Amino acid sequence: MSRQPVVFGVESSCDETGFGIVSEGKLLGQGLASSASQHAAFGGVVPELAARAHLDAAVPTLHLALADAGVELSDITHVAATSGPGLATAVHVGLASAKAIAWSLGVPLYGVHHLAGHAAADTLDHGPLPERSITLIVSGGHTSILKVTDLVRDPIVHLGDTLDDAAGEAFDKVSRLLGLGYPGGPVVSRAAATGDPGAFSFPRALMKGSDPRYTFSFSGLKTSVARTVETLERKGEAVPVADIAASFQDAVVEVLVAKALRACRDENIDTLVIVGGVAANARLREVAALRCAEAGIELRVPRPSLCTDNGAMIAAVGDLLVRSGAEPSGLAISADPSAVLHGAQLPLEL
Ligand code: KG4
Ligand code: ZN
Repeated sequence: MSRQPVVFGVESSCDETGFGIVSEGKLLGQGLASSASQHAAFGGVVPELAARAHLDAAVPTLHLALADAGVELSDITHVAATSGPGLATAVHVGLASAKAIAWSLGVPLYGVHHLAGHAAADTLDHGPLPERSITLIVSGGHTSILKVTDLVRDPIVHLGDTLDDAAGEAFDKVSRLLGLGYPGGPVVSRAAATGDPGAFSFPRALMKGSDPRYTFSFSGLKTSVARTVETLERKGEAVPVADIAASFQDAVVEVLVAKALRACRDENIDTLVIVGGVAANARLREVAALRCAEAGIELRVPRPSLCTDNGAMIAAVGDLLVRSGAEPSGLAISADPSAVLHGAQLPLEL
């Protein structure tokens, strides 16, 4: 009888060092370290600092994950690691750690697409995905509406992506404009909580009937916020940070939810999954819940701590790959910092 798989997941694509342990769809435990505070002074992630921080955090975070899961290193049967996309130096550190663990234990290694990890995170909270779903991925580097069938067996179909900034990137840039710090999402949403979302009417891009139905653009919105702040400052007026944050946040949320629901309707799919760092946003969760209830669509959003980068989501993909009988990627796998999402496993063999 074969042993029950215990999959160790490694995430290091940006500023979070994440290790997670998943067995048969169940999260056993995880460890997480973040170098966000080291980047705050620069207003964004400095790749070299992130890579060094991953190296420093690797062994302590590995011990945290094992202790949290109550397993020994020798209980691990498979290793999965983000091999792309992400900051090249950062991905390399996690992938090298994953190779070292897999090699020393003599267990198979799977390369995982980071964004497939975000989608898989939801299975840890809400069980297997349905046969068909629309997935809205909203992270710091990507914003896409996807048609997902079997996450690890089938190609992932992009219905639409962003033409310029990702949703999280827009939060980070607006945060910088408002002097709120990095990462922008949590601080902008905190500021927005006391603001009036109707105070400023910021643009909702690509929402006209003739526009591409699922494509996003957030750079005009960011520019509009910048112009507003500049104009107020030029006139010597106080910048109403909370009102600007709330108005900006609503502009992003409205477009995201409208286009995701449009995809559900067009494709006749009744499950919407929202994942990625921006899915931790309370306003997005609230508006999406409301609109999905009205439309009779089941909404699935993982708990906020599984929306932002973590190792559990990568272990979740690994666990699905193992159970689907996928061939391991092998120890020779290289990092692919600009991997496009077409399938859950890297290198892609669909
Ligand atoms: O998925 P993620 O952790 O990393 C990437 O794969 O990029 O997403 C990070 C992004 C950042 O841009 C961050 O500002 C944003 O997610 N974010 C949020 C919130 N928490 C994180 N955006 C809006 N509201 C939040 N509460
Ligand atoms: Zn991410």
